[in-house]
Amino acid sequence: MTPHASADQLIVESFLSEREERSLAFDVLDGLTKPFKELPPKHFYDARGSELFEEICALPEYYPTRTERAILQDRAASIMERTGAVELVELGPGAPDKARVLLDAADGQVERYVPVEVSEAALRASAETLVDEFPALRVHGVVGDFERHLGKLPTPLGPRLVAFLGGTIGNFPPGSRRRFLRQVRAVLRPGDWLLLGADLVKDPAIVEAAYNDARGITAEFNRNVLRVLNHDLAADFPVDAFEHVAFFDPRHEWIEMRLRATRPCSVWIAALNLRVEFAAGEELRTEISAKFTPRRLEADLHAAGMELDELLTDEEELFSLALARAA
Ligand code: AVJ
Repeated sequence: MTPHASADQLIVESFLSEREERSLAFDVLDGLTKPFKELPPKHFYDARGSELFEEICALPEYYPTRTERAILQDRAASIMERTGAVELVELGPGAPDKARVLLDAADGQVERYVPVEVSEAALRASAETLVDEFPALRVHGVVGDFERHLGKLPTPLGPRLVAFLGGTIGNFPPGSRRRFLRQVRAVLRPGDWLLLGADLVKDPAIVEAAYNDARGITAEFNRNVLRVLNHDLAADFPVDAFEHVAFFDPRHEWIEMRLRATRPCSVWIAALNLRVEFAAGEELRTEISAKFTPRRLEADLHAAGMELDELLTDEEELFSLALARAA
């Protein structure tokens, strides 16, 4: 085998134009004209929103990030050994921290890392860090939306592990979740692997505290989506007139985040030529974050053509990493 020239070590392919990066206009037109107003959570993450999310991850009430990290650190070596993966695909990695744990534990076994990430800036920054840290690793970055661009992955080099971490799977309502998992299954060959980070059903008080932090960072993160609309679509939301609401819905086993208008608001969205009225007390749904039972995870994976191999959890069973194999 010849050593890779460093010019071949990093490839970045983009499938997004700057404008369609988050398909905001369509989602806002669609979501704010529904009988119950809603916005998809992906629009939280402009520069400010991503900063606020990083702050959330470090909050004492927000257990998912640190718990997932602990499970990953603990189990990364056995995951890499079990899968025998030579290729690691990561969906929406943001920062390179989780990949680093897996790559470190893989000890040279992984030849190529393939991040799929909407933010080209974030993708390039983490790709550059990783090629420096792992001189034998090739990185093939795919700038795109993991809901739309999984078909753009390069041909696999060998046994593939797809990692979808952080609990983002919880953002999909059950029907789209299954559809999405089938799309993931489609980029795996029989015997390939999925590592899925999923938050677990638990005492609602613990979950609700994680989305109603004492410092109000989650409230700011939630309201920030209105600032995104004001800025990107020339809207005039009175941001301070909306209050943060987050509660656990025990029937659906998910957290719902909403923004409640504290007074009647008439909002003009110039880029869409659209007026949207909010009654006093009216709520706009901004996120669902599903919590899973082991049974539910197993059923969803099975329905998508994968079998749960191992469910890795922390001692308190707060969070899980589901390792599944394509049938
Ligand atoms: C990034 C979707 C996993 O649902 O916990 C954190 C986002 N929202 N606090 C989650 C979020 C409010 C987070 N995910």
